[in-house]
Amino acid sequence: MTLPNTPAILVTGGAGFIGSHTVVSLIEAGFRPVIVDDFSNSSPNVIQRLEQITGKAIAYYTLDCLDLQGLKTVFAQETISGVIHFAAHKAVGESVQQPLKYYRNNLDSLLNVLSLMQEYQVQDLVFSSSATVYGQPDNLPVDEQAPLKPAESPYGFTKQVGEQILRDACKVSALRSVLLRYFNPIGAHPSGLIGELPLGPPNNLVPYIIQTAAGLRERLTVFGNDYATPDGTCIRDYIHVVDLAQAHVQALKHLQKQTEASYCEAFNIGTGKGNSVLEVIQTFIQETNQGLPYTIGPRRAGDVTAVYASVQKAEKQLDWHAERSLAQALVDAWRWQCSLK
Ligand code: UD1
Repeated sequence: MTLPNTPAILVTGGAGFIGSHTVVSLIEAGFRPVIVDDFSNSSPNVIQRLEQITGKAIAYYTLDCLDLQGLKTVFAQETISGVIHFAAHKAVGESVQQPLKYYRNNLDSLLNVLSLMQEYQVQDLVFSSSATVYGQPDNLPVDEQAPLKPAESPYGFTKQVGEQILRDACKVSALRSVLLRYFNPIGAHPSGLIGELPLGPPNNLVPYIIQTAAGLRERLTVFGNDYATPDGTCIRDYIHVVDLAQAHVQALKHLQKQTEASYCEAFNIGTGKGNSVLEVIQTFIQETNQGLPYTIGPRRAGDVTAVYASVQKAEKQLDWHAERSLAQALVDAWRWQCSLK
């Protein structure tokens, strides 16, 4: 049970795909999330859906994190004990076309959050980073010690710079931070009430699969089958969004236990297992009995051949591991897609 005067966890981007699932996990773990979202890439309906899933009223502010004064009112009105910062643009291709939009939004919003955390003496921050910081790693599974490769896109660079900003800030202040490097988040809440809502044609594999199976797209294109992998298609580590959400709760608990100010650590959040594009397609067809027209097309620029996580650090230090299978994630994603009809 959450007491009304429980300090709040500020969740920026809390109506988005990963943010909304994290709000559910936070409430289930007894935290009181307060959402800040500008609904630029999410629907305000998500708030009601979250209330339906959790049976709790959810505080939210319609606000862009670039609005420093607006954000300050949230810090002034709520007693905030920690922040999970999701709010960011995330379309890799768009970031190549509009780099300044990405640098301004993703970096200024982080700086705004950090300056208010300092002003209001809030210590704990969980930051959304990405496996994209590794590029194509030299060794697989990739662990957190692996060198970061030059970013393939402005989006990827904002994640690398965001991590560095936090490392630098933690060194000289009371700030404590966990950087979660997400692998490929997929799936949806099993209730079918929340999930991923891409605007326009999806860029990512699973949203494209479910929209194609639903008849909204003519066919899926597999981007290349001439990679140096067993079936020639790229390999990724697909993690169920509910498992990923729970990693945020564990990260927050971990931060709250730290005695050391200046704590700043990165953790891989994946399953530890790689699956090829064709394996994902076959699993989807098997589990849902849906037809899925697809063709093999050329490679997509910027795709790496294979990446999957070493998850030992998160298992040991965050006491977390992924529990849900690829099959479960695809069934949940499909249920979500069907609920949109
Ligand atoms: C991308 C981003 C990553 C981000 C993630 C969100 C890069 C380098 N990485 O990962 O930072 O966190 O999205 O989930 O851009 N594929 C097809 N056909 C499609 C779509 C995808 O074959 O229509 C293939 C891709 O070639 C890739 C795999 O499916 O091999 C996964 O692609 P995608 O879902 O876009 O994720 P990533 O590119 O791995």
